[in-house]
Amino acid sequence: MNFDLTPDQAALRERARRFASEELAPVAEEYDQREEFPHEQFCRAAQLGFFGLSVPREYGGLGADTVSYALVIEELSRAMPAFGVPVSVHNSLVCYPIAKLGTPEQRQRYLPRLATGELLGGFSLTEPESGSDASAMQTLARKVDGGWIIDGHKTFVSMGATAGIFLVMAVTDPDAKRSRSISAFLIERGVPGFSSGQRVSKMGMRATDTTELLFREVYVPDANLLGNRGDGFKVALSSLDSGRIGIGAQALGIAQAALDTSAAYALSRKQFGEPIIKFQAVQFKLSDMATEIEAARLLLMEAAALKDAGQPMTTQAAMAKLMASQAAVRAADSAVQIHGGYGYLKGNTAERLYRDAKVTEIYEGTSEIQRIVIAESLIAEPATYPLPAFDVSAPVSG
Ligand code: CAA
Repeated sequence: MNFDLTPDQAALRERARRFASEELAPVAEEYDQREEFPHEQFCRAAQLGFFGLSVPREYGGLGADTVSYALVIEELSRAMPAFGVPVSVHNSLVCYPIAKLGTPEQRQRYLPRLATGELLGGFSLTEPESGSDASAMQTLARKVDGGWIIDGHKTFVSMGATAGIFLVMAVTDPDAKRSRSISAFLIERGVPGFSSGQRVSKMGMRATDTTELLFREVYVPDANLLGNRGDGFKVALSSLDSGRIGIGAQALGIAQAALDTSAAYALSRKQFGEPIIKFQAVQFKLSDMATEIEAARLLLMEAAALKDAGQPMTTQAAMAKLMASQAAVRAADSAVQIHGGYGYLKGNTAERLYRDAKVTEIYEGTSEIQRIVIAESLIAEPATYPLPAFDVSAPVSG
């Protein structure tokens, strides 16, 4: 499906596809098993501009649109899902908010280094007792002369051990309404009082590190406040709208890989004297995978195109992430089933995809949160539908 890509979008997708198939796919299994991030491939991806997708050209980035960003994340994730996470978080949850909301000085200080990958960006919202209920955070920023003192404990931070700068949400105004009580700070690794916790061992996405972040009396100058005081929750949620397109694209890449590996196996694997692709039991699985992938891709492209047109896309981003992550989990499950016993073995791509897929239904807002976001849009603006609402005050007859 080409969704009328522009020549630039098609060229960027081709660049990502070639890099992913030649340089990521061959090492995906190895780095998953070693639980290690492929640093050499990171440097190559940086040279190709993938860490500057959301950075405007004047700051050394590609200034790519959201459609291109989604296409790149899908291609990278198709070869190595774990590689899609840092590229997505860095671009959508760090570069994009700085480019959109940063002061000229903040943009100049951070964007050129983010664009080249010299500085990897991380995002820090979640806390041990504040996950889906994100505004219930307890990390506190206390105002002092010229800046802020931050104390708190964040968790589930993707690339927490590796990223060099974090967009961190902290409560600056505990007495204000919850959504107005939070501000967003840019905090570089190395400032006194800041540390990453131990890397946690995960079911999937094992090539990325995930850690806690600890803030003990960390001094942050006023110049590192991103956006206005009290706007932090909205900064986080609006960045997550774009981030959800990235995670949707990551899930789509996983689903596509599950279909590709299953179709190839079903063509070559013979049982009862026939390649198993001849059996309807297998065909139906492949057909469902292909159909869900197509539907997810259309939703993703719609959300990305809306963002590029400057239109609201919160609902479409939530729908795209919900659909794509469900498609990924179902496709990976089918891939293991089609591979039979072989699919259950370590070292089989289907097994890794099965483990990698699950988290796309969890991070950057669980599927339940996406449904809440979608439902809120239905409540706020009920569909214009030609049928009148059922009148409960009318006498019941018949
Ligand atoms: N953009 C901008 N503002 C938004 C918004 C959006 N998409 N959605 C809501 N808002 C605004 C609302 O208009 C409201 O503003 P006012 O107070 O001025 O009216 C304010 O934000 C609060 O909105 P809600 O009352 O709806 O907020 P809530 O507390 O009920 O929470 C929620 C809403 C949807 C549940 C939200 O908390 C949420 O999305 N939770 C999930 C958190 C999440 O996605 N975490 C992911 C962690 S990051 C991660 O996973 C990265 C990684 O490592 C891969």
